[in-house]
Amino acid sequence: MQTLALFDEPEISREPKQIADGAMLLPGFALAVDRELLEAVERIVTAAPFRHLQTPGGLTMSVAMSNCGHQGWVSDRRGYRYEACDPLSGQPWPAMPESFAALVSTAATAAGFEDFKPDACLINRYLPGAKMSLHQDRDERDLSAPIVSVSLGLPAVFQFGGLTRKDAVQRVPLMHGDVVVWGGAARLRFHGVLMLKAGQHVLLGERRINLTFRRAR
Ligand code: SIN
Ligand code: FE2
Repeated sequence: MQTLALFDEPEISREPKQIADGAMLLPGFALAVDRELLEAVERIVTAAPFRHLQTPGGLTMSVAMSNCGHQGWVSDRRGYRYEACDPLSGQPWPAMPESFAALVSTAATAAGFEDFKPDACLINRYLPGAKMSLHQDRDERDLSAPIVSVSLGLPAVFQFGGLTRKDAVQRVPLMHGDVVVWGGAARLRFHGVLMLKAGQHVLLGERRINLTFRRAR
């Protein structure tokens, strides 16, 4: 029986791609569990709703955020930090689902980082027009652990820069199901997300959800 070559092509493009020393794109790595991830996100944001945090400078972020896991990333006039409880409810953040931890540890291993055990999962929600300016993730105590970032919903353009703000910035298109892992020599590279374009995703409609896993403590 003949198979159309067309059907094999997505598999070919699922080869891991190195973005920089210590940074890998794993195309479609989370696709097989996308619905499971999104159902878990729905449960989490029922308990800990998305909110637009304030920057220390007093601006309101365009990306809405929530968290699950032992630690949650928050920002307000007092600064950026991790908190064990949701400031909105005073309750601990919802637990990190087993399925998240398993996926993320496998992705980290595939990118060359063994034994990644995240204690924090930041959930970012982008609607069209939302963006995340270039920044470093450096509020974590142990910078030897990588960062694992899972993209769901509308496509976005990830900006991946260098260790200083003025270094050249690569543009990496991120599609539903893509996973990016960066650590080691790349751990403190600047990164961000360009303004989300309008569109419709079959599972998420007009939204992009990003899950960013880190070892905070
Ligand atoms: C982040 O840097 O926290 C978010 C990255 C993303 O949304 O892809
Ligand atoms: Fe980040």
